[in-house]
Amino acid sequence: MSRVLHAGVGPPEWTRHNGTVTTFYEEIGGFETFRRIVAKFYEGVAEDAVLRPMYPEEDLGPAEERFLHFLIQYWGGPTTYSERRGHPRLRMRHAPFAVTPEAKEHWLRHFRAGLDEVQLTPEQDQRFWDYVNHAAQFMVNTLE
Ligand code: HEM
Repeated sequence: MSRVLHAGVGPPEWTRHNGTVTTFYEEIGGFETFRRIVAKFYEGVAEDAVLRPMYPEEDLGPAEERFLHFLIQYWGGPTTYSERRGHPRLRMRHAPFAVTPEAKEHWLRHFRAGLDEVQLTPEQDQRFWDYVNHAAQFMVNTLE
């Protein structure tokens, strides 16, 4: 669980790829891949009767950008997220919202659609999917 607690501030996620050491961020295609995942995810959120009312801002654009830069940073890309927002402290930042098991299921459904959009290799997909499943479970803060 500490990987989630310290999400985005630890060392980059180094991986081996084609004989060179790189980050998972680069391995899966860098900014454009992350942008597409998050764009698809937010298309789902925008239409979701459980999730949409939880987002405080009328315009989902700024939330989309925060999430995009968080994920990029977590997987070893540029640290724009922390330059703008400081330490992620994700569980604390979610405390104002009632993250129920139902909200988590909806959230993960849209993230799944985001990952499907970019067609990673099975190993890459599994790695990303495992991470968001653990992180989403960690964010649940109420049963109702
Ligand atoms: C489990 C279901 C989840 C729900 C219902 C949820 C909901 C929300 C809401 C309502 C916000 C505020 C939007 C904004 O103004 O930025 C937010 C912010 C955010 N969420 Fe989640 N979230 C969930 C899971 C996750 C997970 C698993 C991650 C990371 C992998 C994550 C990362 C973020 C980030 C980075 C922000 C912006 C934090 C900031 O800098 O203010 N969320 N989330």
